[in-house]
Amino acid sequence: MSVKVGRMAKSRTRQQQRSNVGGRDKSTSWQPIFTGAILAVAASFIILVVVAADSFGGSGGGDGGAGVGPTETAAANTSTPDPSATDSPGNADPTRTPTNEPGPDGTTVLACNDILVPLDKQNRLPADCVPPDLEELPGAISAQGAQYMRTEALGALREMFDAARADGFVLQVNSSFRSYQTQADTYNYWVQTYGKEQADRTSARAGHSEHQLGTTADVGARGLFLEDLIGTAEADWLAENSWKYGFIISYPEGKEDITGYAYEPWHVRYVGQGVAADVQASGLTLREFLLK
Ligand code: DAL
Ligand code: ZN
Repeated sequence: MSVKVGRMAKSRTRQQQRSNVGGRDKSTSWQPIFTGAILAVAASFIILVVVAADSFGGSGGGDGGAGVGPTETAAANTSTPDPSATDSPGNADPTRTPTNEPGPDGTTVLACNDILVPLDKQNRLPADCVPPDLEELPGAISAQGAQYMRTEALGALREMFDAARADGFVLQVNSSFRSYQTQADTYNYWVQTYGKEQADRTSARAGHSEHQLGTTADVGARGLFLEDLIGTAEADWLAENSWKYGFIISYPEGKEDITGYAYEPWHVRYVGQGVAADVQASGLTLREFLLK
């Protein structure tokens, strides 16, 4: 009996020793529970804030937020587009594959992954055309969350932005790669916002956008989007210098009858330095140059 009592006494002593590790005793054993509860409440609060921020101003936010429509967003959808998706009323059949001749829907479907493919209102890409080497833009140059461009084009863009910065201009990308489906959503957004006639002056229908190539960027600066850039020093800088880095402004001023689109000083397409120099020297629009 005394042996048993002695063991129990020793056991209690060890328990007391264990409970005293770190200077705690039984009178303060509520503290870990209390701390845990505080941490749990704090974690819940952080999760709530993150979810709310995503809902109200996220980069894939469609037409909400601060008046930013889907043209400015760069929802990089690298999955194969849904072939049943319709791009706009009475438009191209998204299931058609390259033919190099106009099909029953009136458009010509060109091969995927040729960076010099002439895209306009007649010529388009297959719906499932997704560039092979899309790379995420560094956060510092993206104005719209996760965005993607093809590796070579992104390298050239970074060089151009570095050169602009050396001249005092901090450029950013408002939109870059857009999948067929994202372009369909974008075009439809503008149709709903401004009507079909105006949408067709400023937005390409699905398959017809140079953004689907992964080599094109809508450049902004100082929070300026799209038309905000017209007449700025940054637009002048791009017009003067972008060709040196392999980019061409696809839709120059006063050429809507040729390009099919209103003036877009922000929309630059990478064609490589050699071709860009030739386009610049030719005085032609990119469309004319690529079609000749
Ligand atoms: N804004 C140009 C035309 C595009 O949608 O690709
Ligand atoms: Zn653009």
